[in-house]
Amino acid sequence: MAESILDAFKEDHSGEKERDYSKKLKVGIIGTGWIAEAHVKAYQKCPDVEIVALADLVPGKAEAFCERYNVGKVTFFPSHKELIDSGMCDAVSVCTYNATHAECAIYALEHNVSVLLEKPMCVTLDEAVAICKAEKASDAVLSIGFQPRFDENMKMLKKVVQSGELGKIYYIQTGGGRRRGIPTPFGTSFIQKDTAGLGALGDIGCYSLDMVLNSIGYPKPLTVTGYKSDFFGKDPSYEHHDVFGVDDFAAGFIRLEGGIILDFRIAWAMNLDTPGDTIIMGTKGSVRVPSTECWNGSIGGPLVIYHEIAGEQIETIIPQKKNSVDCFDIKIRSFCDAVKEGGEAPVPCSQILYNQAIIDGISRSAELGKEIEIEIPEI
Ligand SMILES: NC(=O)c1ccc[n+]([C@@H]2O[C@H](COP(=O)([O-])OP(=O)(O)OC[C@H]3O[C@@H](n4cnc5c(N)ncnc54)[C@H](O)[C@@H]3O)[C@@H](O)[C@H]2O)c1
Repeated sequence: MAESILDAFKEDHSGEKERDYSKKLKVGIIGTGWIAEAHVKAYQKCPDVEIVALADLVPGKAEAFCERYNVGKVTFFPSHKELIDSGMCDAVSVCTYNATHAECAIYALEHNVSVLLEKPMCVTLDEAVAICKAEKASDAVLSIGFQPRFDENMKMLKKVVQSGELGKIYYIQTGGGRRRGIPTPFGTSFIQKDTAGLGALGDIGCYSLDMVLNSIGYPKPLTVTGYKSDFFGKDPSYEHHDVFGVDDFAAGFIRLEGGIILDFRIAWAMNLDTPGDTIIMGTKGSVRVPSTECWNGSIGGPLVIYHEIAGEQIETIIPQKKNSVDCFDIKIRSFCDAVKEGGEAPVPCSQILYNQAIIDGISRSAELGKEIEIEIPEI
């Protein structure tokens, strides 16, 4: 029986397809900080992509970045606006800190320039709605940078849920976190309110939410009770406590359309090894995804399905898969394909709108100290 279940999930994951490499895509990078390197390296693997422009608010930063990563002959701009106004780019990667995601993405879409927007989509639900409206009004493609979507194990999780083997899904627990791991890779843009807007909740919380919501088909969130705290970031012994302005822990209890409860918690720092595995419970079976610090393209061990076969309680272990192609490379390649072919966004904003609505709801509910309704306007 276990064999046949596994067989049902087999498919070709090679991602190879016919492409017209003679048609070059002209790409710009907005924000030349930490993650821009991964974007450049992945674009450089695409023979039909030319990086033509770099922009950063910090004078000289884009120039130094260009030299360090051997980007080639490009034009430099002092902000996203001048880069877009130049008309040089068919598409841009928005690699800025969270607080400027919305303005950069919207400005590009208004000029029919396609956008690969880094995660989290933005800071607030209002911004997410404005981004989705700009995408709707534009002829360009907008994809949100969730590379874990392309991880073979994450795809398997979705297939298990979508196969119906678990029956009706009614309860989900997800989250994760680090015992100590407040990110300050190159400065403090992740922890300052004016640049990050959100802490662990947005930074790594968005991944846990996407993993489970994508698996169950992104039902609409209805209500949320949220909590957030900053005990570790604000602790006087922490070296950056004076500028720390976001959450380092957040939790939420969310009602989703279809009678599903989502129990979520996420930490950049805690006095614990893990806040628990991800579990998706259904009427015919449940699946356990062993915990990780951050669901950014890895799972902590094999998926286990708990179900009944011939009246017996059985555990089916799904062997962990290795990716033949790096998830980040697929994120970039699939975006380029969508732009060139005028196809669907690999990670559409219509889904991530709900992800952002939950993040925003947790944040607002925590501030109000009570459960709130999540109201998402029509796009
Ligand atoms: N997908 C992933 O695996 C992954 C990993 C790390 C970070 N990220 C995301 O990438 C984003 C950037 O993170 P980072 O660590 O590279 O940040 P960073 O602070 O190192 O770099 C951001 C850069 O953007 C520039 N910038 C801001 N607004 C701008 C504008 N309007 N025009 C031009 N430049 C502008 C800043 O000056 C800065 O140099 C964040 O949203 C983060 O969540 C994603």
